[in-house]
Amino acid sequence: MESFLIKGGVPLHGEVTISGSKNAALPIMAATLLTDEPCVIRHVPDLSDTRFMAQILQSLGATVKFKNGTLNVRANKIRGYADYDLVRKMRGSICIMGPLLGRLCKARVSLPGGCIIGARPINLHLKGFASLGAKIEIEGGYVDATAKKLAGSAVFLGGRAGSTVLGTANVMMAATLADGVTVIESAACEPEVVDLANFLNTMGAKISGAGGPTITITGVGRLHGAKYEVIPDRIETATFAIAAAATNGEIMIHGARADHLRAVLDKLNEAGVKIENRGGNLAVRRNGKLKSADVTTLPHPGFPTDVQAQLMALLALAPGISIITERIFESRFMHVSELARLGADIEIEGPSAIVKGGRPLSGAPVMASDLRASAALVIAGLAAKGTTQVNRIYHLDRGYENMDAKLRKLGARIQRVEENS
Ligand code: EPZ
Repeated sequence: MESFLIKGGVPLHGEVTISGSKNAALPIMAATLLTDEPCVIRHVPDLSDTRFMAQILQSLGATVKFKNGTLNVRANKIRGYADYDLVRKMRGSICIMGPLLGRLCKARVSLPGGCIIGARPINLHLKGFASLGAKIEIEGGYVDATAKKLAGSAVFLGGRAGSTVLGTANVMMAATLADGVTVIESAACEPEVVDLANFLNTMGAKISGAGGPTITITGVGRLHGAKYEVIPDRIETATFAIAAAATNGEIMIHGARADHLRAVLDKLNEAGVKIENRGGNLAVRRNGKLKSADVTTLPHPGFPTDVQAQLMALLALAPGISIITERIFESRFMHVSELARLGADIEIEGPSAIVKGGRPLSGAPVMASDLRASAALVIAGLAAKGTTQVNRIYHLDRGYENMDAKLRKLGARIQRVEENS
C-alpha cells in the first residue's frame, strides 16, 4: 500500500490545471447505457473510481475504451445485472440502476454496503423508481427493479438531509425513456446534476429545470449516441485553493468554474483568503492573516460537505474559534483525530466540530479514512513543520488525478512511497 511523505512548510507557488469532475463523470458514464449507439466523453479524470465504472460498464456488456481522458463507450447489447464484487468497490455505481431500468425495464444491482461517512441508504432512489411504476424487491443483498413499461409521474425526493444527488440523477435517467412526463420535486441542484442533464439532452432527452429544485422530464422513445465534455472538478479546485492558503502560498488555478463554487469562495474570503477570478482562472493567496469562521454543510448552493474536511485543516491554522457543522453525513469527522495528531485542537460536539485554531502544526504519521479526509491530511501536512506520512492514500486516488505530481509542480516536497518504507 502506498503513502505520501510530505516535508511541510513550503508555500505553494505556480500554476495548476483542474481535471474533469469525478462526481459528474460517474453518472454520465452510467448514462451511456441508455443508448445502443456510440458515446464519446471527454475530460474524464483518470481515477480508480472512473476505472471501476468502466469495468462495471464492460461487465454489463458495453465496449469501453478509456485513454488520455477520453472515454469511448458502446452499450450495444447489455444485461440488467451488476454483481456485488464490482458494485461493492464503489458506492457511486448505484447510478447504473436508473439507466438499466429506463432502457431494459429491469435492473438487478447489489445494494451498496455501509460507508464510513454515514449510513447512506438508497430509499429515495427506490421511491423514485417505484413512482415510475417499477416493482422493487430486495433479496439476498440485491435490489430488483422491474416494470412492464415505465410511466412518468410526480415524485418528491427530499429526505433527512434534504435532496439526494445520485437519487436525482438515477430517477432523471430512468424517466428519460418513460411514457409521459415526470416531475422531480426537491431535486438536487448540484452542478453535476446539471452536467448530467445537459449530456442527456445531447442524447435527445427532454429535460428542463436542472439546477433548480424542480426538474421536468418528458419521456422519449429512444436516445442516440453523443459527444460530450465533462465539467471541471469543483471539489479539486477548492482543495488546491485551500492548500495554497494553508501554506501561505500564491497559485493560479486553470480551467476552474467559479460559478460552481460560490459558497466556498465566499467562506474562504471570510477566512482571509483572496481569490480573484481572471477569466476562468482563479488567482489564490492569503489576504493578510487567516481568520476563524463558522460553516454548516448544506446541499448546493450551500457549502459542500465534500470541502468540509479541507476547510477544517485551514481553520485549524486560523487564530480563534471556528464552528464547523456537518448536516449532510452523520459521521464525517474521521479526520478530526488525525488532525489532532498533527497538533490541531478540535473537539466534536454532536454534529459540530469546535476548532480552536492558530496552533502551529507539526508533522506525524497519519491514517487516511476516506477521500476528502485524506485531502485534509495532505493540506495539514503541507502546512506543518517537519515530515508527515499520510498512509492509505488509495482513498485519495479514488478522487484526485495525479495529486502528488500537481503539488510537486507547485513546489511541494511530497513523494509517493511504499507504506512501510
Ligand atoms: C454524492 O453522493 C457525491 N458522490 C458525494 O461525494 C457527496 O458527498 C454527496 O453527493 C453530497 O453532496 C457522487 O456524486 C459519486 P446524497 P450521494 O444522496 O448522491 C441521504 C465525494 O467525496 N440519503 O446526496 O450518494 C444520505 O444518507 C463523495 O466525492 C437518504 O437518506 O449523496 C445523505 O445523508 C462522498 N436516502 C444525504 O441524503 C437516499 O436514498 C445526501 O446524500 C439517498 C440519500
